[in-house]
Amino acid sequence: METLRWEKGTLYLLDQTVLPFTETYRTCTTWQDVHKAISVLAVRGAPAIGVAAAYGVVLGARSILEKPGDQPFVTALQDICTALDGARPTAVNLHWALEQMMACAKHHGGESPSDIVRFLEEKAKAIHADDVAINTAMAGWGADEIGKGDRPLTLLTHCNAGALATAGVGTALGVISELHRRGQVQMVYADETRPLLQGARLTAFELMAGGVPVTLITDNMAAWTMKEKGVDAIIVGADRIAANGDTANKIGTYGLSLMAKALDIPLYIAAPLSTFDRSISGGSQIPIEERNHDEVRSFRGAATALSDTPVFNPAFDVTPHENIRAIITEKGIISHPDTEAVQTFFDKHSL
Ligand code: MRU
Repeated sequence: METLRWEKGTLYLLDQTVLPFTETYRTCTTWQDVHKAISVLAVRGAPAIGVAAAYGVVLGARSILEKPGDQPFVTALQDICTALDGARPTAVNLHWALEQMMACAKHHGGESPSDIVRFLEEKAKAIHADDVAINTAMAGWGADEIGKGDRPLTLLTHCNAGALATAGVGTALGVISELHRRGQVQMVYADETRPLLQGARLTAFELMAGGVPVTLITDNMAAWTMKEKGVDAIIVGADRIAANGDTANKIGTYGLSLMAKALDIPLYIAAPLSTFDRSISGGSQIPIEERNHDEVRSFRGAATALSDTPVFNPAFDVTPHENIRAIITEKGIISHPDTEAVQTFFDKHSL
């Protein structure tokens, strides 16, 4: 099962809104199809959104080629990128991928529009292939770091940071799968992740398919599970990481970090370098997506509250860097992240 596939100029996205009950692909032939798929969460998870958006730019470039307007090619493409960038605000990988694509278009700006489209397609494919390699590298670093002990681990994760959220083996679930491959996983507790149940629908499904022992819990069972089941570590992904290591991830992660602190359980973030946004110094500057209130008042069309019940529905929260034991990247580990540790890591790797 592939999360996304580019075939003969068409993007196919595994529709995550209907998983795990139905496995069906959404066909995207225009950049607007990709925009829609990102905003309704048919494709989701920071890295997967970035890869999908890169292909969206190829589709957008092709539409300009087929129907040129008054604007220069690159200017028209910038407008499409700006529109795609608005599909979801928190995951910075979307913005990162669009910047990569625009840089490619500008670099080849002097060439014919059809050549620019060709270069953009190559660039999108490269972003896609890189994500696969990045995930594998992260899985190795993370498993080395977390699996240092001599007994199998009890782990807890939140939301979905697996193959479905990336083009490869996943971020947090990539690490967990690698630990499992090494015989170091006793049990993974997966938070169901209200309101859209990425943990129940996607993470539990993925881990079961991979033969990784998993137990599903509701979000409000996390603290008790950590205490009663002896959780050794929490591993989650990220949607944006500020220069000081503050990390935005699915709503509920901040709460987990507080519980983890109280129970002295380490919290690890697994995220590619494209998830860092070092233009912002701290987490308070991360834009937090607020989604439709009906996501909280209902589930799959069935009302769970009165239709006029007031709702607050932030899709993400920010975990302060003090609550994070380490950030796992494709280039290595940033332990006890803060501004200095992040800067030192980027300097060391000449990033
Ligand atoms: O709203 P979603 O489902 O796109 O949120 C996804 C998450 O928060 C993931 O944990 C995050 O993107 C890391 S995925 C590798």
